[in-house]
Amino acid sequence: MSNRILVTGGTGYIGSHTVVELMQQGYDVVIADNLSNSNIEVLDGIEAIVGRRPDFVNVDCLDYVNFGRLFTDYPNIAGVIHFAASKAVGESVEKPLLYYRNNVGSLVNLLELMNKNDVHNIVFSSSCTVYGQPDAAHLPVDEAAPIQPALSPYGNTKQINEDIIRDEAHATPDLHATILRYFNPIGAHPSAKIGELPNGVPNNLLPFVTQTAAGLRPMLRVFGNDYNTPDGSCIRDYIYVVDLAKAHVKAIDRMLKHKAQDQVEVFNLGTGRGLSVLEIVNEFIKVTGVEIPYEIVGRREGDIEQVWANPAKANQVLGWKADTPTADVLLSAWNWEKHLRKIDD
Ligand code: WQD
Repeated sequence: MSNRILVTGGTGYIGSHTVVELMQQGYDVVIADNLSNSNIEVLDGIEAIVGRRPDFVNVDCLDYVNFGRLFTDYPNIAGVIHFAASKAVGESVEKPLLYYRNNVGSLVNLLELMNKNDVHNIVFSSSCTVYGQPDAAHLPVDEAAPIQPALSPYGNTKQINEDIIRDEAHATPDLHATILRYFNPIGAHPSAKIGELPNGVPNNLLPFVTQTAAGLRPMLRVFGNDYNTPDGSCIRDYIYVVDLAKAHVKAIDRMLKHKAQDQVEVFNLGTGRGLSVLEIVNEFIKVTGVEIPYEIVGRREGDIEQVWANPAKANQVLGWKADTPTADVLLSAWNWEKHLRKIDD
């Protein structure tokens, strides 16, 4: 049995960390990525960490012919981890068709090509965004919490893609799928050789914090301190990207060893602990010793107040736990920012 894994979006943020963990566990990896939101030098970072270079094919998953050629060139793919997608929530509101085309079209192509080429295992990157704002009875959120109407086209593509996978699995009895719903991934590899490469002004909290710490942004804006939370700022479940990457290896192992109990399995990937925006900022200042000038401004449209995971199913069934201390995670984010900006200690 081959142990080659196709990783779409494998030069991206979560993809690159997952490629490292897969290779360190002995998997061979072929990456399919069109570099639309990543950089070819990521391969150097992966090689520097692992000591081997993953195979790389520069291809858009929407390009059926060339994407299909990859399956002919690599006839022995044991499973696929599908990260490739557009992921900016705000942009998806401006350009919904781009998001539906990219995110839904890519998955449809991939599932067709998997079927045609007898590839039977897929791990899909989904998001806690499918839960929207759970009511108090559903916090922390487990996998049985109700799916809420999506707040953005981006979120809707995640819901639609989960449905597409379920429908295709129903029609294709030998297809196995693992849907991983991520909470808020943060941090970078401890080597500082790979990390997040945000495009332009970051939307997400951590890249904005590290860029402010590096002096690229004058001030962090904290979006609201009048929420119904202990300090008034929003609460999220921030999960270390390396812990998250390791969960993908567990998910692939489980499918390849035929241990999955259901044809489609869903797991929440979070720490089980909610942290507020102000807690993150204060912890970052404490562990790095770097000041973060910030101001409290109004709420950001579309933000939910609080959500964090109940990761018990992933803990028990996958034998996986996100247990890296927050201090280490925040330091890894800062070390990566310093590496990017060539800041010395
Ligand atoms: C976290 C908290 C902000 C920036 C989004 C997507 C989700 C996803 C991850 C993607 C919130 C606050 C932020 C800032 C702030 N998936 N904040 N000042 O909104 O939980 O999730 O990104 O690929 O689908 O919705 O993450 O990092 O944007 O925000 O105060 O400059 O930080 O209001 O409370 P979010 P985030």
